[in-house]
Amino acid sequence: MKDYTITVLGCGVMGTAVATAILKSNVEPAPARLIACVNSEKSALALQGAFDDHRVEVSFGEANAKAVEAADIIILGCKPYMYQTVYEQVKNSLNGDQLVISLLAGTTIEELEIFSKYVAKVMTNTPAKFGCGTAAVSFSEAVSLDNQDFVMKLVDTVGLAFKIPEKNMDAATALVGSGPAFCLMMMESLIDGGVRMGLPFDVARSAAAKVMEGTAKMVLETGDHPAVLKSKVCTPGGTTIGGLLKMEDAGVRGGIARGVEEAANISASFAKKK
Ligand SMILES: NC(=O)c1ccc[n+]([C@@H]2O[C@H](COP(=O)([O-])OP(=O)(O)OC[C@H]3O[C@@H](n4cnc5c(N)ncnc54)[C@H](OP(=O)(O)O)[C@@H]3O)[C@@H](O)[C@H]2O)c1
Repeated sequence: MKDYTITVLGCGVMGTAVATAILKSNVEPAPARLIACVNSEKSALALQGAFDDHRVEVSFGEANAKAVEAADIIILGCKPYMYQTVYEQVKNSLNGDQLVISLLAGTTIEELEIFSKYVAKVMTNTPAKFGCGTAAVSFSEAVSLDNQDFVMKLVDTVGLAFKIPEKNMDAATALVGSGPAFCLMMMESLIDGGVRMGLPFDVARSAAAKVMEGTAKMVLETGDHPAVLKSKVCTPGGTTIGGLLKMEDAGVRGGIARGVEEAANISASFAKKK
């Protein structure tokens, strides 16, 4: 793909995060033009200046049909329940060849194929706004391997992207989509413990956040199983093993794993209710 145009149809929180990541990256080939589409003039005005990039145009309302006509790639970023309304508004501008990258939670590839048979379904999360997002990606059968590679490069700009079959999307929704909230709860617990034992809140907050960031980095950079890294920091008779056993007694590990299971089951139940 060369000199291509990306149209972000529904450029709200997630659409802006993904568009910003792509524009700021060195992805090759880079988009020649990016049209950020919203519904209202108010949101369009708010979006002006959100991107400091000469390739960006903002569009709203009826003009969005023209933006879709110009698109090689459509990033769909509206709320999931809106996709049919959005489709009705732009359907005459679709040409059948466009690659649709959907950020919508819960909406299946089959449902999204009304836009195009070339669909990438992406589940990402809010850390994408800080260039540290995670994204799970599934493709419709029609997407060629070359285009899959290209989409993976584009989506990887949010932080880290991995390809999964669509049947695993509920699990990814739980781990990737809800994961930041789960980590925040763990972080809150670390802060509470630190404060309980006398650390000032600001110190405990910064320390807990950095400990989680550093630990995550260690796992990603070594590729080691967390259990291996954990056992390396457990001095016999020491503080860490003592703390860990107390947490095991409280069922922390099972509680967190079951929390992910529950979130995945809820995600799957949404699809069944449709
Ligand atoms: N936020 C998250 O943490 C998160 C995480 C994972 C996945 N997601 C997924 O990301 C998607 C977007 O969520 P969000 O939080 O970014 O929502 P959002 O901030 O409300 O953004 C939705 C955008 O869609 C626009 N829109 C509404 N109707 C439209 C229309 N007819 N034509 C064009 N644009 C239209 C809205 O414009 P107006 O402002 O003018 O109405 C708004 O800019 C959702 O499907 C969600 O499942 C979000």
